[in-house]
Amino acid sequence: MKTDMTRRNFLKAAALGTASVAAAGLLSPVAFAQEEEKASGFAGKKKFAGIGTVREVTEDIYYVGASEKRTQLFENVYPIPRGVAYNAYVILDEKTALVDTVDRSVTGQFFENLEAVLEDRKLDYLIVDHMEPDHSSAISEVLVRFPDVQIVCTKAAALMINNFFATDIGDKATTVGTGDTLSLGRHTLTFVQAPMVHWPEVMMSYDDVSGILFSADAFGSFGALNGNLFADEVSFETEWLADARRYYCNIVGKYGQNVQDVLAKAADIDIRMLCPTHGPVWRENLGWILDKYDKWSSYTPEDESVMVVYGSVYGGTESAANMVAARLSQKGVANVCVYDVSKTHVSELIGEAFRCSHIVLASITYNMGIFTPMKNFLLDLEAHGLKNRTFAFIENGSWSPASGDLMKEITDRLEGSRYASEKYTFFSSPSAADYEALDALADAVIASMGGGEAAVEEAAPAAAAVQWKCKVCGYVYEGEELPEDYTCPVCGVGPDQFERI
Ligand code: FEO
Repeated sequence: MKTDMTRRNFLKAAALGTASVAAAGLLSPVAFAQEEEKASGFAGKKKFAGIGTVREVTEDIYYVGASEKRTQLFENVYPIPRGVAYNAYVILDEKTALVDTVDRSVTGQFFENLEAVLEDRKLDYLIVDHMEPDHSSAISEVLVRFPDVQIVCTKAAALMINNFFATDIGDKATTVGTGDTLSLGRHTLTFVQAPMVHWPEVMMSYDDVSGILFSADAFGSFGALNGNLFADEVSFETEWLADARRYYCNIVGKYGQNVQDVLAKAADIDIRMLCPTHGPVWRENLGWILDKYDKWSSYTPEDESVMVVYGSVYGGTESAANMVAARLSQKGVANVCVYDVSKTHVSELIGEAFRCSHIVLASITYNMGIFTPMKNFLLDLEAHGLKNRTFAFIENGSWSPASGDLMKEITDRLEGSRYASEKYTFFSSPSAADYEALDALADAVIASMGGGEAAVEEAAPAAAAVQWKCKVCGYVYEGEELPEDYTCPVCGVGPDQFERI
């Protein structure tokens, strides 16, 4: 049986439902691909054939990314038990454009998808919004398969391509900056640089026809796409939000001001869809996810609630933490959460710390210091730049308690920290008298909620790192002084174009 139906038309027909496909006398995707291969004389020469994991985003924009669940640790740091998706998109117009590529773990599926969508057309442009290898690993193979392709990226990304692939892409790259455009025919892409969200070379691409913002890592999430592409096809708030928050806070969390800058630019654009490089695509309820990003990037707590984190060896500190949590709940605080710092991955703790307004830290004293997993958590909080949280401390020590003041030394370095009460100290395991004091600590935490006064004076503002912002592209340099011969890694201007912020 011979058919002149293309793979893309198969996708459209498939969207009509099985009955329509059967009524039209169409082939299954595999049989169809096999027929097409025979007709082309390439039967048996391709390892894969079919439409893969392609999804139609709009009438002429296709999802060609792929998911995987084999990797244990994303970036060799973050557990991803739900897997992860690496998103890439193709625009079919008078010219064809591929927006980003994928991680090396899914290049097989990606090229199968790309082939299915392009059919026999050549690829004219590869838009590189982000050069981190989870999106750029397939670039070298794209260059081999499509030797005439033109790469469109920022100046900093072009340098990174040369460095990552130890090659000079020379005249294959067209470098662009904020406001530059690329016409594909009907579609025109406008580029917006987004330095340090979360790498310096990042840009976003806006399509005037569909209103899509190809947003790189912004608005992304951990989690494999299980066939569903759009956020409105899944229960995002219950199934995805925690992973979206954990993704943002751990990977982009430090760069809140840069995200705020991008959100300010986005406010002037008619965005109808958000196509990130990880996780679901947003085509409905964009205000909801934009509001989450606004809160996370401004270090505003999402929930007025209490996170209790304990580090305990023989259970005494654990008892004290659980007792405080129970008192808080008894007195009306909803959604209190309790975490064993030894058993909870620090990336989950970071996500929860960004969510909650109040954090109670309970730690044993260990080697005259903070229990090691608790210290790691607090140093990670500092590295991610959490701000504006209210803390309370419980310290335990069987002979010489010291962890309370040491924990506070770290939280004092977080901007906007305040304290619900003085630290509470007990020895080994809480006694009846300790229970009364812990009940009072719960009262103090509650008194500081909902805009209540903190019982202890706010910490002196942490000495913020000196930052210099590029007036041309927005890149931020951290350091007391700009080196005299410094050049912006994004746009190449010198120190005279930087202003202290
Ligand atoms: Fe998903 Fe920054 O790479």
